[in-house]
Amino acid sequence: MIIAISNQKGGVNKTTLTFNLSYLLAEQGKRTLVIDADPQGSLTTIFNAADRENNIYSVLLEQEPLQNTIMEIEENLYLLPGGIELSNFEVNVATKQGRENCFKDMIREVKDEYDYVLIDSPPSLGLLLINILNAADRVIIPTQTDYLSYKGLDLLLHTIKRVKETFNRDLKILGVVATGFDSRTLHSREILELIDGMNVLGIITNSVKVKDAILASAPLHRYDKKHKIVEQYRNIARGVLNDGK
Ligand SMILES: Nc1ncnc2c1ncn2[C@@H]1O[C@H](COP(=O)(O)OP(=O)(O)OP(=O)(O)O)[C@@H](O)[C@H]1O
Ligand SMILES: [Mg+2]
Repeated sequence: MIIAISNQKGGVNKTTLTFNLSYLLAEQGKRTLVIDADPQGSLTTIFNAADRENNIYSVLLEQEPLQNTIMEIEENLYLLPGGIELSNFEVNVATKQGRENCFKDMIREVKDEYDYVLIDSPPSLGLLLINILNAADRVIIPTQTDYLSYKGLDLLLHTIKRVKETFNRDLKILGVVATGFDSRTLHSREILELIDGMNVLGIITNSVKVKDAILASAPLHRYDKKHKIVEQYRNIARGVLNDGK
C-alpha cells in the first residue's frame, strides 16, 4: 500500500505525522518504506540522514539504483532520503514524455517488498505532487483545524480528482487528519464538523513535546510514552492498518 501524506499548504504537520506513523507501522511488524519527496528534506533531517551521498534525486535523474539508496533505519523501517536537489526535478522532467510517471516507475521496482510506502509531500501543487499522487494508492490529508486551511482543501481535492481522472483511477482518500486541534475552542469544533464528511482519520493536538521529540529524532511514543498525543498517533496508525475504516 502506497500512501501519500499530502497538502499543498505548509506547516500542517505532514512531515511530523509521516515520521511518527512510520515507526508505529514498523513496530506492528509492517515493513515500511518512507520516502522524503519534499525538497526541504525535513524528514531526512529528522532521520539524521541529510549527509547521504545519494538520495531520491540521484535515483530519479542520475540512474542511481534505488536499492543502493534506500537505507535501513531499524527493523522494518527504511528511508529513501530526500534533499534540496529535488527542487530541480520539475524543470528537469517538465518536457519529458511520461513526466508524471517518474515516481510510479521508481517505486514499482520495490513496491512488493514493503507493506507500506509512506510519501511525505512538498507544500506545493506542482509536478512533484502529481507524481506522488499518481504513484499512490491512498492519500492522507493533514489539515490545520482553521477556516483558511479548510478552504484551502478545495484546491487539493481538485488536484486529487484530476489525477484520479487522468492517471490513477484507483487513488482514494484514506482520510483527513485534523491537526492543531483545540477542543476548547468552538472554532476547532466547527471546522471538525465541516470536514467530518471526508472521513476524519483522527485529530492531533499541539504540544511542544512533539517538537522536542523531533529534536531528539524520536517518535513521540518513545520520547514520552505517556503523552496524550501518543494515543492520537496510535489511533491514526490503527486507521491506516484498517484502510480508513
Ligand atoms: N502535534 C504538534 N504539536 C506541536 N507542534 C507540532 C506538532 N506537529 C508538528 N509540529 C511542528 O509544527 C511545524 C510544522 O510541522 P511539519 O514540518 O510536520 O509540517 P509540514 O506540513 O510537513 O510542513 P511543510 O509544509 O513545510 O513540509 C514543525 O515545527 C513541527 O515540529
Ligand atoms: Mg514537511
